Amino acid sequence: MADANFTPGFRSLDEEVTDRTLPVEGSFPPWLSGQLIRNGPAKFEGGGQRLTHWFDGLAMPRKYAFDGGEVRYTNRFLRTESYEDAAAGRPIGQFATGVGGLAKALGWLRRLGPPEPTDNANVHVARLDGGFVALTEVPKWVRFDSETLATRGEFTFQDLATHHMITAHLVEDPHRGEHVGHALTFGRTHEYRLFRIPDGTRRREEFAAIPTDSPAYVHSVGVSEDHVTLVETPLRIDVLRALSPFTEGFFDLLDWQSERDTTFYVVSRDTGKVAVEATAPPFFTFHTVNAFEDGGDVVVDLIAFEDDGVVTALRLDDLAEQGFAGVPPGRLERYRIAPDGTIERRRLYDGGIELPDVPRQVRTRPYRYAYGQSTDREGANELVKVDTERGTAREFWERELYVEEPCVVSRPDADAEDDGVVLAPALDVAAEQSLLLCFDAATLAELGRARVPHPIPFGFHGRFFGS
Ligand code: CO
Repeated sequence: MADANFTPGFRSLDEEVTDRTLPVEGSFPPWLSGQLIRNGPAKFEGGGQRLTHWFDGLAMPRKYAFDGGEVRYTNRFLRTESYEDAAAGRPIGQFATGVGGLAKALGWLRRLGPPEPTDNANVHVARLDGGFVALTEVPKWVRFDSETLATRGEFTFQDLATHHMITAHLVEDPHRGEHVGHALTFGRTHEYRLFRIPDGTRRREEFAAIPTDSPAYVHSVGVSEDHVTLVETPLRIDVLRALSPFTEGFFDLLDWQSERDTTFYVVSRDTGKVAVEATAPPFFTFHTVNAFEDGGDVVVDLIAFEDDGVVTALRLDDLAEQGFAGVPPGRLERYRIAPDGTIERRRLYDGGIELPDVPRQVRTRPYRYAYGQSTDREGANELVKVDTERGTAREFWERELYVEEPCVVSRPDADAEDDGVVLAPALDVAAEQSLLLCFDAATLAELGRARVPHPIPFGFHGRFFGS
């Protein structure tokens, strides 16, 4: 049975709004100044067809601007080639629907033509070299204006790096003044590449290359003060399948190889050398939460899944039928990797959790609190704050309210790690209305909620940019 409650979260939104002041219940703190910009899909049809996978919807950045307690909202589709294709009734696709960017990149490897990855940059956002960029997992990022969200064309790096896939999860390290990311390059030897983008530049400085005979799908890496940890799970990319006529998209290339272990590559950020290579029993992960150094060990906290079932469960057909109830839960796990390669695993929260965030100042450092979307309830998604030291958690939930990825914003000059607010978009499926919720980051007490004039489809990731 289709769960009608889910419809607004996966229903196309056509309306675009510019700088609309939102009605607020309660209050947003006057010190909160800046903007939360999020990315996600908002149109699920193209070429007269319903898209197959949530990850394929057309990118619509959305922005909440804060000033003196006021909240103003803007949403706008990226005007990309994918957008034009959909408008003209031509097929689009990237992850599951239609021919994906990777297949095209591999076509290039066979010298069948130039790479034409799709430009539907719907995953994340970043501020690079003073400009705002919408990110996706192929190197075709899109610039946009942070005031109007108007599309400004393709983002170009000032370097000559060749990447066939690139992460949409750049880790901004405020302590070193750089973003850290990873990419994948296919060739005679496939390689994971690690790079940094120094603040104020558009230059990827590659500092490590890790060869692999069977590249895994790696969505994010763990960045600690001195190391980057790349987690190679058994979810592999079957490169040869890209050449098959039966391959419709990137989704078809993914191959869960359950006989494989998961390998942690701990790489020095200074030398680029693999300092430790360690293996653990198989699991899958999209998101690292945080990573830090601890007396010679590297600690990586991540959201682990038993296998790759989550990837198929996020197909739109399945979501429409079962809602999130059919999506296997992620678990917050801590992996402690010793210099001799031994690994210790510990679960930090017993509930289902995804879309994690930590305060900016503790990124790459020892930390105590992780925030995320908790997924155990039926008919709602909670907000959760996990105390990783004490093994306790605070939760917020409300019937029929689906909380999305939270974003922690520290109070200026805060001393305590959790002195600030948590901003969390949410969809009230009963009222068919989206909200932006504001919580005290220490107590998770709700401070205020701003009402958005329409239901926004569920998004992926965003960042707060202070002003
Ligand atoms: Co992600």
